[in-house]
Formats: sequence, C-alpha cells, structure tokens
Amino acid sequence: MGSGGRCMRPTDLKDRIAFDLKDVHEVLQTSTLLLFVLGTMAPASEYPRKLDQILDASDIEYLKKFFHTQVETEWERNEGLAKARGLPKPRRSLEYYTLLRQLQGKPRDASLERIISKLYAVIEKQFGPGFVIVHDFWSWRTAQNVPAEFIHHDPDFWATGHHDGFNLWILLDHKNMAHSFDIFLEQDNPELYRIVKNKAGRLLPEKSGARLTECPGVLFWDPLSWWPVLYEWPYTRTLAMVMGVALNKFWQKSQNCIMYLKQRLPTWSFRCVLGLTGWLFRLTPLPAGLVLKTQRFGLEVGDALVLRQYELHTTDQDPLQDHQFRLAVGVKVVRQGPIVQYCYTGPASRIRRNYPCLRWGLGQVLPDFYRCELDMEPYPETWLTRFLFSATAEKALGDSGAKVFGEEPEPPSREDDGRLPVALRLKHGKEHSRLNWVGMPLARDIPLKMVPDYEHGNPMFAE
Ligand SMILES: [Fe+2]
Repeated sequence: MGSGGRCMRPTDLKDRIAFDLKDVHEVLQTSTLLLFVLGTMAPASEYPRKLDQILDASDIEYLKKFFHTQVETEWERNEGLAKARGLPKPRRSLEYYTLLRQLQGKPRDASLERIISKLYAVIEKQFGPGFVIVHDFWSWRTAQNVPAEFIHHDPDFWATGHHDGFNLWILLDHKNMAHSFDIFLEQDNPELYRIVKNKAGRLLPEKSGARLTECPGVLFWDPLSWWPVLYEWPYTRTLAMVMGVALNKFWQKSQNCIMYLKQRLPTWSFRCVLGLTGWLFRLTPLPAGLVLKTQRFGLEVGDALVLRQYELHTTDQDPLQDHQFRLAVGVKVVRQGPIVQYCYTGPASRIRRNYPCLRWGLGQVLPDFYRCELDMEPYPETWLTRFLFSATAEKALGDSGAKVFGEEPEPPSREDDGRLPVALRLKHGKEHSRLNWVGMPLARDIPLKMVPDYEHGNPMFAE
C-alpha cells in the first residue's frame, strides 16, 4: 500500500486524489493476484472471445496458397512414402513453425512479414505490450482428419511461469464449418476448473456407460520440468531424447494401465488405487457426477478465436460429410519472461528442438523468434536421432481407449522399416556389419516406385 499512515494536508486535494487512485490501483492488483493464487480467477479470463476480421482478403489468399502448396504437398509426400512402406496413413496433425521457416528464408517474404506485423499490432492493441509469438500452427479438419483429438492444455504456455497466454486461431477457409473447435469454458465447468486451478494437463474422459457418472474422467498433469534443458545443448541433446522417449513411454503406459483398471475395478477400489499411485503417475480422478460441457463459437473467414491459456480444448469430433472441411492458422502468444521450465510431452517443442537457432535457455528471456533474423539450419540427423524423434510417443498420451493387458501387441517392426536403426535392418544379410567391401556389388538402394491412389492395391495394375 502506497500511502499507509502518511499525513496529507487537507488542502492538497489534487495530490490526495492522485494518491488514493494509486492506492485503489494497487489494491486491485493485489486482490487480482490473491484471487489468482487462490485459484478462483485467471488473468486471461477477461480476454475477448474473438477478434473480428484481423486479416484481409489478400492475407487470407496468401495463407491458403501457402498451405496448399507447402503444407498439404508435404503431407501428401509423407503419405505416399508411408503407403509405399506399408505403414498406416499418418495423421495430418497440427503442423508447427512452417510460417517461421518461410519468414526466415532468403530473400525475406514481404507478404508474410506484413501478416506477422499485422498480428503483432493486433496483439499489442488488444492485450498490451510484452507478448511474443512462440510458434505458428495449421489446423486442418476434414471428415477423415481430426488434428487434436485429445482434451488438453497447451503446456508450452507454462514455460515462462506466466498464466496470461493465448492462442489466436484464425479461420481461413471452410465448407459448412463456420465455427471453432470445442472449448471447456470455465463458467460451464466450475468444478473442473476448481480442480485444475492453474496447472497444465490433459483430460482422459470416460466416454459412456455406468462409470461415466461414477468417475467421468481422469486428469493427467503435464510433467513440466527443468531437465529438458538438456535438449537445448547440442552435446546433451541425444541424451535428452533418450530420456524423453523413456518418460513418454512411462506416462503413456501408466495412463493406459490406469484406464484399463478403471474399466475393470469397482469405482471405489479404482479411486483407492489412484489414491495410492496417482502422485507417481500424475493422475487425478474427477469426482462423481461431474458433467463436462463444451462450447464452440461461430466465426467468419478472417476472424480469430481467442483461446485462453487455462482453457482445456479439443478438436470438434462430430461426424462430417465428405464435402465439409475447415482450415485455420494459429499463433501461440506468451508473455515474455525468463524460461523456468519445459514441456517434453507436446509436439511443438519437439519440432522446435530440431533447430539450434530456436533454443530456449533456462533462466533466459523467452526469445522473439518472429521479429529477428535466424539461420533455420536444423541439427544434422543421425540414424539414432531420427529413430528417437519418431519414437516420441506424445501422440499416444491421452488415448484413453487403448488397451494394456490382452491388447494386440504392436505390429512387429519390419526389418526394412526405415525407422529402425540401420544395424537392426537385417533383410539384406551382413552388409551392416561387413568391414571388407572389396569386390562387393553395391546396388541396394533401388528408388521407390510411387504408386498413385487409383493403382494402389488394384490387381489391374500389378506388374
Ligand atoms: Fe491445443
């Protein structure tokens, strides 16, 4: 308190009023902080739900063209490779940092620079100074594709310890889908947010059946930690990847195990099990009778939905007709401050860690990557880093439908599977352990034949 006990001359009215206003401001600040500490109010709770028309028609055309020529083409290439290797079609998940890579290209992309400046101007006008964009992402929803099917927070928000971050999710194009994804609003789910408070997590919901009312779901608290700083240093990066794979597997298996027990044990004994082990697995069951409610918001092309840091959310999962689709681009915005912890279970940081120029130093101020010049050369790949990267299991976290006991085992890795370390690919004999190559024919790398969709699996086209 600024004026506590200080004497003022009654005649000095102007000073007195200024002083009192300062006091009121301080009281408000203090009480806001107190309410937040008590978990009854979030600093982002007053943000507007949407911002109208933050991009104009030419910006939208530019971004749509960028998506179709770069992001979608890359997806199609990967799907072609997966098909050729006999692997399942990969999900078209949220794609991170593609705009940043384009922005940092040479020569600079003036159209994209203009769009980024426009976004920063909107952010500063609407939310005040001190925020930076930490990554960009694409959201592509079709009848076949759900980019983020799990109910989650975005744990990267928590890197600086601030709680007033937000996503701007900008609708670029759609067919009969003029709305956002699903959000668990605080006012509709007060009991849920009383449990969640200001922590980051994922919600593993009970889908149906009698157990839906007895225990409607389990919360997994994201394991934010300082040790992933090892990812940020070139010489410890591989060690961090090994640790990341092991811990992701641990969280994934423990969640699957607990959700398996949830189906098979009486709810009272399931709660006992979680009471004993929940601290280890970072799991908390929801109370009986809690009803989870979501909302989605109508948007027009060019509008931005504002997702508040503390809001659990998921992609809308209604069955769609084939002609329906929705394309959005998003940016994550965080208040600048020193990095205090890292997430290692989310996909955005996993991509960021491929680039030496995108390091977040522990204790150092969160960088403003979108307003400086960077060399986006990635780390050199080895078979080990490639293997560890693809083995990170963040996709499986939150998959409450997975089985544990009695589940079909994961399909055995094919010996010519490109994800296997070279030494384990035994199909061609001893060439990976052979030291003497004199006189040996070296013609193993036959180019893949890319087969168009209509020929795939059709005996008419068999050779
Ligand atoms: Fe998200």
